[in-house]
Amino acid sequence: MFEEKYNSYLELINNKLSDFVPASDDGQDIISEAMLYSLKIGGKRIRPILTLEFCNLICGDYKRALNFACAVEMVHTYSLIHDDLPCMDNDDMRRGQPSNHKKFGEANALLAGDSLLTHAFTAISSSENVSHKAIAEAVKTLSECAGVNGMIGGQVLDLKNEGKLIDENELITTHTLKTGALIKAACVLGCLAAEGTSKQISSAGLYALNLGLAFQVIDDILDVTGDEATLGKPIGSDEENEKTTFVTLYGVDKSFEIAKLYTERAIDSLSIFENDTTFLIELANKLIDRKN
Ligand code: IPE
Ligand code: IPE
Ligand code: MG
Ligand code: MG
Ligand code: MG
Repeated sequence: MFEEKYNSYLELINNKLSDFVPASDDGQDIISEAMLYSLKIGGKRIRPILTLEFCNLICGDYKRALNFACAVEMVHTYSLIHDDLPCMDNDDMRRGQPSNHKKFGEANALLAGDSLLTHAFTAISSSENVSHKAIAEAVKTLSECAGVNGMIGGQVLDLKNEGKLIDENELITTHTLKTGALIKAACVLGCLAAEGTSKQISSAGLYALNLGLAFQVIDDILDVTGDEATLGKPIGSDEENEKTTFVTLYGVDKSFEIAKLYTERAIDSLSIFENDTTFLIELANKLIDRKN
């Protein structure tokens, strides 16, 4: 049941994403190619799946949120392309393939990331079957969660803290911003597409921030214990870049317990929803044991 639903969402998203990469015929087609490359080489699609499921939970019609879901995945994919650049984490593999800059060069990778960000907003604004108000709120939410007080802010702190030992609070702030904020956007956009209430939106946000923390703690663990081929990206990247992570602060076992605690908190925040939250509960639990 869980797998079936996950796979049907995945297929829907994978089939739709390339629609938002504009065809280009004035000699700039390398950028469309670079955008498609990173979008199509895979990824778990956790964020857009969350968007579809929150919409489904509230109104029963997940298709309404499809453009919003794709927009979140486009912003996420852009963040990964930039995160891998030599000036950032300097990683050569992503989603099991050479990183975007390895394939297309740094300048094109930079621009492919920029254009994924830009066209994410084309995707939102061309949504059908959602109100103009929901579209406006989705633009506001996604831009805020991706910006200075969201993902970008977290990436800035992450780079600023390289080579320094930071404490748990600073690490939580960094992880909440760099990873939690976009997961929050994913969940909230699903609620917006479904015309959810402010109570539903704030509970979805709480679920997302706790899930995001658990997700990044597991990402920190996998950077140490993961299998590179399964993970699809290099392990040991954090140590090489002298990052403080949950593993450097607490070791693998305690970090795992911390991730479980955040997962429980995420699940608790679903209690206000009247409809069936089994999928969101199972998703949170499965992300704890993920291997990629
Ligand atoms: C990787 O995100 C970056 C983090 C925020 C930890 P994912 O683990 O969701 O990567 P994909 O999309 O599945 O490749
Ligand atoms: C990434 O954190 C957060 C982003 C905003 C992309 P990491 O740098 O740990 O992600 P990975 O491990 O490279 O996927
Ligand atoms: Mg990084
Ligand atoms: Mg990285
Ligand atoms: Mg990582």
